[in-house]
Amino acid sequence: MNSFIQRGIRLTGTGSAVPLTSLDNHQLSQVVTTSDDWIKTRTGICLRHILQPSDSLTVIATQAAQKAMEMAGLGPQEIDLIILTTSTPDDLFGSAALIQAQLGATRAVAFDLTAACSGFVFGLVTAAQFIKSGVYQKILLIGADVLSRWVDWSDRRTCVLFGDGAGAVVLQASEHEHLLGFQLYTDGAQNHHLNLSYQAHEKTLIDQVYVGQGTYQPMTMNGQEIYRFAVQKVPEVIEKALFQAGYTVEQVDWLLLHQANQRILDAVAERLGLPTEKIISNVAKYGNTSAASIPIALDEATRQSQFKKGDIVAMAGFGAGISWGSAIVEWGLI
Ligand code: ACO
Repeated sequence: MNSFIQRGIRLTGTGSAVPLTSLDNHQLSQVVTTSDDWIKTRTGICLRHILQPSDSLTVIATQAAQKAMEMAGLGPQEIDLIILTTSTPDDLFGSAALIQAQLGATRAVAFDLTAACSGFVFGLVTAAQFIKSGVYQKILLIGADVLSRWVDWSDRRTCVLFGDGAGAVVLQASEHEHLLGFQLYTDGAQNHHLNLSYQAHEKTLIDQVYVGQGTYQPMTMNGQEIYRFAVQKVPEVIEKALFQAGYTVEQVDWLLLHQANQRILDAVAERLGLPTEKIISNVAKYGNTSAASIPIALDEATRQSQFKKGDIVAMAGFGAGISWGSAIVEWGLI
């Protein structure tokens, strides 16, 4: 391999976009029997943004990507690879290719990656491998989800939790390594706790030959099991990733978790012994935006100058699969 190839990974731009239409807890109580007080107390969520039927995931993902590229000072022709992490593409064949076309990033190869709410962390680690191998130098990683299309709007246990949005980062090869450590896990045996599954209806083609022609069913979730899983596994995976990086919890400047629920963020910080001031949280404004939640929070914190160069950011995603993972990042953006 060429010794001049830079193998470190640096984040050089962030961006985000959410739909204009929002729905607060009071408005939601016109849809299901709930209250602002119940939702705020149990989840910390006050507001979520909802993509309108005439709009698309591709549009908000493209907007987020454009902002990230602008911050990185890169034009579309400079991007080598686009990874879209989503569970809710506009097209089941994937939406990354259309985003590539809308950005005019004609040199870039583009594909979708699905790992539900762990998607951004899984995508970050995947993108890093392409840089480490020397294959690509400039990668656009987008996390975008539109779960409003897939929740059961008559199920108050789930519909209050989710919102729509997109976040993006640009990752570039650098001399210095900013991705200090990571750990990823999957436990498919727990898959039944959180699903958005296809249900086939049998259709006879000819005698003895059938096909399944059905639809995806609204999301189902065992909230208590997911809560237990998150509060147990997320601190563990962060500690393992920190250990791999050669860091301790005391050296963490920021805890940036998938924004599922404020109670989960607080419980994970408490188990790690991290003070609440170190928690990055915007779940109140957006709800759970699945693969988009970490990059949206990252973008907001970046634009509000929350991070300083050299800060240690412990990220973790968790969700359907069941999957979970952590990435320890040294902040390298000014
Ligand atoms: N408004 C009012 N009452 C409600 C609502 C609501 N929106 N939802 C449930 N309730 C009621 C229930 O019917 C139940 O009433 P009952 O006792 O009379 O039967 C009562 O409140 C308690 O219900 P629980 O489901 O036990 O409530 P819990 O305290 O577990 O809180 C919650 C539910 C917030 C979903 C919690 O379990 C949780 O945070 N789980 C984690 C879920 C999560 O974050 N998932 C996403 C992560 S993975 C991913 O991102 C895809």
